[in-house]
Amino acid sequence: MAKDTSRNIGVLHPGSMGITVARSLQDSGHKVGWVAANRSAQTRDRAKGLIAFDSLDEISAWADALISICPPHGAVALAQQVHATAFGGLYIDANALAPSTSLQIGEIMGLGAYVDGGIIGPPALQPGTTRLYLSGHHAAGVAAWFSAGALQAVPMAPTQQQLENDESAPEQHVAASMLKMSYAAYSKGASALLLSVNALAEAGGVTEALHSEWAISAPSLLKQSQRAALMTSGKAWRFEGEMLEISETYSDVGLPDALHAGAAEVYERMAALKDLPPQELEAVVAALLRRPEE
Ligand SMILES: NC(=O)c1ccc[n+]([C@@H]2O[C@H](COP(=O)([O-])OP(=O)(O)OC[C@H]3O[C@@H](n4cnc5c(N)ncnc54)[C@H](OP(=O)(O)O)[C@@H]3O)[C@@H](O)[C@H]2O)c1
Repeated sequence: MAKDTSRNIGVLHPGSMGITVARSLQDSGHKVGWVAANRSAQTRDRAKGLIAFDSLDEISAWADALISICPPHGAVALAQQVHATAFGGLYIDANALAPSTSLQIGEIMGLGAYVDGGIIGPPALQPGTTRLYLSGHHAAGVAAWFSAGALQAVPMAPTQQQLENDESAPEQHVAASMLKMSYAAYSKGASALLLSVNALAEAGGVTEALHSEWAISAPSLLKQSQRAALMTSGKAWRFEGEMLEISETYSDVGLPDALHAGAAEVYERMAALKDLPPQELEAVVAALLRRPEE
């Protein structure tokens, strides 16, 4: 790419998703930095090959843009910390947040310099798996930064409804978050429901009977339950926050919000499975029932 289109971009922080965003930006010709202070050995290891800074103050002085990719429950505090520096560039929040939380971050950073993002798909190790949706005034410009690499960036156009209402309506800035909430409400909500159904049957002594009935009338559900256990056990600690953001999103539009508040409790009971290898259904059920594993 031409030299003058290269940007200095900070990724806060290079977790399993963040590092693949960072690599896509590098593949597209940008310089990518990170902040080593307070980060774990795993993050330090993943960040090899990125430009290391000692503090948010240092990276803020260097970066044209900062991308926040952290557990949802840490996103507002991170924005406040960045706001306390002299940062004057674009701030992109790509976390799984309620539109109202994203707007709160936009107001902290200034909506004119804020881009809302939502990522759908696994960490982007190969093209075609993962999309970064973007909304806000600079969405198309930021999407253009991802000219190469595995992550596909998708700027969201304002909806017809938004155009008919008010072109400057704040919801336009956070359409990417609304899309992410709608998508994850089903994907992670359905996993929480299936896991809790298995725990319910176990608590009542009917696990075998339920699985036998499923084999007759709903043959995919046992496999889906087993897959949900393996896929969510290690990440449940941060899904609690995401479910609360989804619950907030339902509440903000006047829909019943208890379903995902309940899913948050399900994932909260699984939080201790963090840092373990993917867990089988039986182990997840034991965690949900707060039974020590044999
Ligand atoms: N992974 C996926 O498949 C996926 C898919 C779609 C969207 N996302 C979104 O991407 C974001 C990050 O997910 P991830 O999978 O990369 O998570 P992750 O692997 O757990 O990494 C999180 C990163 O944030 C840092 N961190 C931990 N606690 C923090 C806090 N309170 N404040 C600021 N930073 C903190 C971690 O540093 P330490 O190592 O020091 O703890 C790590 O570098 C989430 O918002 C998630 O919804 C992920």
